[in-house]
Amino acid sequence: MFKNFVAWMDERIPMTKTWNIHLAQYPAPKNFNMWYLFGVLAMLVLVNQIITGIWLTMNYVPSAEGAFASVEFIMRDVEFGWLLRYMHSTGASAFFVVVYLHMFRGMMYGSYQKPRELLWIFGMLIFLVLMAEAFMGYLLPWGQMSYWGAQVIISLFGAIPIIGDDLTLWIRGDYVISGATLNRFFALHVIALPLVLVILVFLHIVALHEVGSNNPDGIDIKKPKGSVPDSEKPKFEFHERFTKKKDIVDAIPFYPYYVVKDLVGIGIFLFFFCWVIFFNPAMGGFFLEPPNFEAANPLKTPEHIAPVWYFTPFYAILRAVPDKLFGVILMFGAIVFLFLLPWLDRGRVRSIRYRSNFHKINLTVFVISFIVLGYLGVKPATEVYTFFARVFTFLYFAFFGLLWFYSKNENTKPLPERLTK
Ligand code: HEM
Repeated sequence: MFKNFVAWMDERIPMTKTWNIHLAQYPAPKNFNMWYLFGVLAMLVLVNQIITGIWLTMNYVPSAEGAFASVEFIMRDVEFGWLLRYMHSTGASAFFVVVYLHMFRGMMYGSYQKPRELLWIFGMLIFLVLMAEAFMGYLLPWGQMSYWGAQVIISLFGAIPIIGDDLTLWIRGDYVISGATLNRFFALHVIALPLVLVILVFLHIVALHEVGSNNPDGIDIKKPKGSVPDSEKPKFEFHERFTKKKDIVDAIPFYPYYVVKDLVGIGIFLFFFCWVIFFNPAMGGFFLEPPNFEAANPLKTPEHIAPVWYFTPFYAILRAVPDKLFGVILMFGAIVFLFLLPWLDRGRVRSIRYRSNFHKINLTVFVISFIVLGYLGVKPATEVYTFFARVFTFLYFAFFGLLWFYSKNENTKPLPERLTK
């Protein structure tokens, strides 16, 4: 009966074909390591956010008068409401953890290089939308940090010459952050941006499957037709779409091999995820900030306003610059340079394994700068911290400049013919 059903469906929609091309018979390089887990984890967290979000919405009240109390109601009175909320708040931080690691993997193995530029651009668009999604979601509980955090960030747009003031007014829908702002952020957070996010993730995967996955060696898993002896070809069945033009070498089908491997990774991830939810949901004030347990009060500014940890590297760059407009430009510049990575890196070798020591040092300094800036972003802007924020902002941007400069004539190691372990 099941076979008949599948046949009936296949005559009307490409069900089995899509399943085989995008999952079962997708040729995945055989040397994927744990860095290749984070894409699937990002998908898992996305699904978690959407589902818990839908259920939270059932009891949340999007008004300045009702929002804070409705979140308390969810926490105390709704059956398992506390679990839904902690899954959603922990999910937000987990999303950025896995996405930052996912992006770092791409940088390490040169996955943004030709022919995967568009895949990278889709990824960066996802990152931008994700930041907007998190920012708007943070206003919804209508706590002190929600209110004042939004106040600080929205007022940044006021630094833009000529249109700045009108633009902030347009974003807020009022002269101050108010119920009007909350309403529009709610609409964008629960429907508009998630929709865009899902569409972008779909395009991200379509782009990935068009060009195929990169791997830790950064070399191709396809060779010209006929150049590989039969004895060296994999004995697996791949969809003809992948084998038509070139011979596939050193690949294994996604199912069952990576399905099983990913399930192990998902299990380990869920272990940490559950630990946070059940034992440490505020995560020392990093996932849920202490001032947000107090309702928004427009007449009382918190002593110290800092965004959630995943925004702090960019916030530190903003504060490192005395001029507001230039600070805003530099903060957006930090993201624009990531967009341009496929063209700033002029190297011919993808993976860090075969690139120069200078490149290894450059990428390491970049990662350290990002982490230190993240730390400085949660600290008050004292003289000493501001000095270090400037140094590490400089190092953050130096990464891109240096990469462009040395990558063209870099001293690289010879690439292997076939994938290594
Ligand atoms: C919601 C967020 C995202 C989801 C669900 C997602 C999903 C995925 C999945 C499932 C893969 C294939 C498995 C893997 O290689 O890990 C992948 C690959 C990739 N993603 Fe993402 N991604 C997201 C965000 C991003 C971002 C922000 C970037 C970078 C700007 C990015 C860049 C890449 C690249 C370059 C690859 C190919 C890696 C390779 O083949 O070596 N992704 N993504």
